[in-house]
Amino acid sequence: MSTAHTPDRPEDGRDDDPQDRAPEHGHAPGHDQDDRAGYKTDADAGSVDERDEADAPAVDPAAENAEGGEPAARVELPEEQQGEQEIPTFDLTLQIRRYNPEVSDEVHWDEFKLTMYGTDRVLDALHKVKWEIDGSLSFRRSCAHGVCGSDAMRINGQNRLACKVLLKDLDLSKPVTVEPIKGLPCEKDLIVDMEPFFQSYREIMPFLVAGGNEPTMERYQSQEDRARFDDTTKCILCAACTSSCPVFWTDGQYFGPAAIVNAHRFIFDSRDDAGDLRLEILNDKEGVWRCRTTFNCTEACPRGIQVTKAIAEVKNAILSRSM
Ligand code: SF4
Ligand code: FES
Repeated sequence: MSTAHTPDRPEDGRDDDPQDRAPEHGHAPGHDQDDRAGYKTDADAGSVDERDEADAPAVDPAAENAEGGEPAARVELPEEQQGEQEIPTFDLTLQIRRYNPEVSDEVHWDEFKLTMYGTDRVLDALHKVKWEIDGSLSFRRSCAHGVCGSDAMRINGQNRLACKVLLKDLDLSKPVTVEPIKGLPCEKDLIVDMEPFFQSYREIMPFLVAGGNEPTMERYQSQEDRARFDDTTKCILCAACTSSCPVFWTDGQYFGPAAIVNAHRFIFDSRDDAGDLRLEILNDKEGVWRCRTTFNCTEACPRGIQVTKAIAEVKNAILSRSM
């Protein structure tokens, strides 16, 4: 196991990331504002505070008032609902590709022996290494729930979101390998420079371009028209598709699947007026025609977007427009 690097983490061993901190109370946003205003909507139902008390589960007042003890929201569950069973643990070997240009231009692999829980994901294993063994390990993550798209990486040779891969679903008889996504310059460990990726994204104008007079109400759209581009609205810009594309690996100028998916989202939006312009941009020699239909992108997409199908639809739109 390699732990040679000097940890650069804060004293408590964790990133000082506000998203990791749970709120002290379980109130929904806006709730406190209503409390302050003493707002009533239904005389029979009593005040908001009264209703909350009636609806809320029993809270242990000792826990609520304890200073520096358990959080106030600790709820007494009936005995049969309390988690009596222990979560099983297992051992695994994690191999991580390391690169730190401030120390050496050489890439190497570090190996870590870990004991993890059956509910842990690859992201939890990376956190364990960073927080308990080697604070110099660098990777991106934010939401930890498959929403922000910041932790795309190659796990056992396949592009995945580290927060969506359960360790128990991997073959743990062999080391689990983790390395940065390909085709983008590695900056440190699992962090790549995303700028070329976002440059292509910006070029396809990823925003609604609607002409005519500004409406006084919403721009209406039928359900059928909305369904036309529903699939491509799900993109979270993780780059798993683009960095799994062999054309992108060899030709960094290629727009890549993610930019085309996001162009598709507006080209087929009935409210948008810049579809022709986007098709013109993607008719470039580095545009859709570079796609070799390998389906790597569709397999890599953590959102299940039919990426190759979207690219084919954009190709067809260019052809039908020019005829
Ligand atoms: S299309 Fe899928 S894989 Fe590609 S950037 Fe969007 S969410 Fe990620
Ligand atoms: S950390 Fe946000 S998608 Fe994984």
